[in-house]
Amino acid sequence: MPASAHLTLDPAFVVGPVRRRTFGSFVEHLGRCVYTGIHDPGHPTADADGFRQDVIDLVKELGVGTVRYPGGNFVSGYRWEDGIGPVEQRPRRLDLAWHSTDPNTVGVDEFMRWCAKADIEPMMAVNLGTRGVQEALDLLEYTNVVGGTHFADLRRSHGQEEPYRIRMWCLGNEMDGPWQIGHKTAEEYARLAKETANAMRMVDPDLELVVCGSSSSSMPTFGSWEATVLAETYENIDYVSAHAYYQEKDGDLASFLASAVDMDRFIESVVATADHVRAVGRHEKRINISFDEWNVWYQDRVASDIAKGDDWPVAPRLLEDRYNVADAVVVGSLLISLLRHTDRVHSASLAQLVNVIAPIMTEPGGRVWKQTTFHPFSLTAKHAQGEVLQVALSSPTHSTARFGEVTSLDAVATRDAETGAVSLFAVNRSTTEPLELQVSLAALGGNLELVEALTYANDDHTWSATADDSESVLPEPNGSARLADGVLSVTLPPISWSCVRLQG
Ligand code: AHR
Repeated sequence: MPASAHLTLDPAFVVGPVRRRTFGSFVEHLGRCVYTGIHDPGHPTADADGFRQDVIDLVKELGVGTVRYPGGNFVSGYRWEDGIGPVEQRPRRLDLAWHSTDPNTVGVDEFMRWCAKADIEPMMAVNLGTRGVQEALDLLEYTNVVGGTHFADLRRSHGQEEPYRIRMWCLGNEMDGPWQIGHKTAEEYARLAKETANAMRMVDPDLELVVCGSSSSSMPTFGSWEATVLAETYENIDYVSAHAYYQEKDGDLASFLASAVDMDRFIESVVATADHVRAVGRHEKRINISFDEWNVWYQDRVASDIAKGDDWPVAPRLLEDRYNVADAVVVGSLLISLLRHTDRVHSASLAQLVNVIAPIMTEPGGRVWKQTTFHPFSLTAKHAQGEVLQVALSSPTHSTARFGEVTSLDAVATRDAETGAVSLFAVNRSTTEPLELQVSLAALGGNLELVEALTYANDDHTWSATADDSESVLPEPNGSARLADGVLSVTLPPISWSCVRLQG
């Protein structure tokens, strides 16, 4: 007899709206994300700009709302002017962050054209590593000013009459990290971020600005970094960033599957710190979180080894992790964590989008395919609609080495009051035991119907997709799902992610 878990859904208990920006992603000039990823002029499906239509089609199917660009660590050494104007005149540059050569065939204009084609909102990062206020202003003038000044007219001379009016801007990347080019102390970064934000708002007061928070919750400066940076910049910015990557370490699958416990604590700690600064500074507004890098990333694998010495390759195969079914379950559970904090997490970016720790893989000039992680992301992006509901959850627990006792069930629900659609996203993070889940729906009204129950799981949780076989393991209808007398029941296999849809 499987152990049972219970949830109660009540439309009165709303966390906040489902935000399209929660389903963001990230395109960095790193490895093959840009070159031979989204951009591959020789590919049979490439358009006049060199963008692969087969990749754009999958990006749309993935349901991505925003894309952060152009880095990442890359941005801290980037001269954005290298990537504008006639392609044949653009300089090739050393990319110190990834020990590569950037041919600069893709720059801001190409990226913005790609965003328009893929129906993506851009999220632009400025270089606060090797550069500062002036270069950020120049880029902003190029992208957002109508015309009549040097950089705005330069954009027009490159064929883009209308300003792009980019709203979201990241003030640097991971400036707390010693690996970052131009790494700074919290005090140094805070001053620079404040002055950059101030000046950028003089050009365009409607910008939404993100200051760098910590690169992970395990940074020695975590907490104090946020406190120092926010104390200085509070009135000048809107969001503080958070970054987190998870991996199975030393065969400890149980802890890995519970990674969302860490993400929950991370978010709640940053919220507490931001609200502390708000209280001390007597500020009115709240600072929310842009969780603009999150994913599973096996940083110790050879795929993350960076070239050394005289070898500065163009678009090397870097960070090309292959994801298995358990990785996909974790990605699904991290999305549950982000949604459950939708009151304070206003934006998030799955890092990254194509080839580099990505849900979409390509071969140069060849095939495109979906990794396992594609499925929970696309289904959540598609079916999370309306408002996020708090779920009253009771579940058996099991012990993990990293997080102690954790509930085997993790779940979140959304409800669209206009269409009557209700979606439940649930993970069984037990490695051995199925869960009999019962969901009390009485408060949602009596006319609910079960539309679909899909579960992603496999007897071999180490199965991963390849170009030759990306479809043997797909989300499958869960035949155990029943709806009777206002109670939904469904069996969740061990190491599984599920999406159950109801209609009122
Ligand atoms: O996403 C890969 C890298 O991870 C990014 O460039 C950096 O910001 C982070 O450390």
